[in-house]
Amino acid sequence: MTTPLIDRFREHLPVSDATPRISLGEGSTPLVPAPRLSERLGVEVWLKLESANPTGSFKDRGMTVAVSKAVEEGAAAIVVASTGNTASSAAAYAAKAGIPALVLTSQGTAGAKVAQARMYGARVLEVRGSFGEALAAARELERRGTHALANSVNPHRIAGQTTVAFEIAEQLGGVPDAVTLPYGGGGNTRALFLGFEALGAMPRLLPVQAASRADTVASAIRIADPVHADEVSEAVGRSDGRVVTAKDDEILRSWQSLATEEGVFCEPSSAASLAGLERAGLPKGTRVVCLVTGHGLKDPALAAEHAPRPVEVDPDADAIAEAAR
Ligand code: F0G
Repeated sequence: MTTPLIDRFREHLPVSDATPRISLGEGSTPLVPAPRLSERLGVEVWLKLESANPTGSFKDRGMTVAVSKAVEEGAAAIVVASTGNTASSAAAYAAKAGIPALVLTSQGTAGAKVAQARMYGARVLEVRGSFGEALAAARELERRGTHALANSVNPHRIAGQTTVAFEIAEQLGGVPDAVTLPYGGGGNTRALFLGFEALGAMPRLLPVQAASRADTVASAIRIADPVHADEVSEAVGRSDGRVVTAKDDEILRSWQSLATEEGVFCEPSSAASLAGLERAGLPKGTRVVCLVTGHGLKDPALAAEHAPRPVEVDPDADAIAEAAR
């Protein structure tokens, strides 16, 4: 059996023997070398496939801790606001825990993520508004005491997400020189900073935001006002990193090259990691880990729009050979 993330890293987490383990086998994700990208960019690129988590995104690391703690503390239900991945992760862990989840999705959430949250039995409300407005409403429900909030403003979420730093150090046999990751609300940047700080070795942190935050094609990071902005400033300042900004066409190009050059199909937001690396101008030979935060199947509509179209053909070898040329 896969050891629950809570047990693998329990000395780093706010848990005790009394904490229930609400686990779906999260964490322990692959770290794979990216030789073609490395060759092309002149740096040593590794991809941390957080898309391999049980619900298809990195959110599961924080959610196992947040939902386990919510159950320990006797929460009757949980609530999240989300651009989609937090929604499906919260819905899955709530289902596993046997408690209801209320999911507030913002406008423009990828359809597959909404379907995923619905499949787990969550009550899904599509908020007529932005992520920021949905988050404000979720925080108000928490204040009223009806729901435990499982967004990244909940410190248990951040604590769980620090574990990716421990895994990277374990898998590489040390910390890399730099880490790039998509920057939406900034919770994950905060978590990485805390994780490497606990290890006592800090790579340069390069969070990558979309140039047009409010309407980027990368819907998971479509967040106008990042709630963790101050913490992100601290993280980049203290790690000798910086916030990188990438345009949508750069993100889309990186998204396609991850798939065609390295066989890694992620969602567009996750490709911000590579788009940022391409822009960052790191010294030759730098060892860098790009976080691949969510799976490509999370946004199949965008993939169908951008990938080469299939050609219709008769079931005939000659016709197929001709069409395949
Ligand atoms: N990558 C993916 C695939 C995401 O879903 C998110 C955020 C991020 C990166 C950015 O992480 O917010 O910690 O800076 N998704 C949230 C959600 C907002 O609701 O699923 P961040």
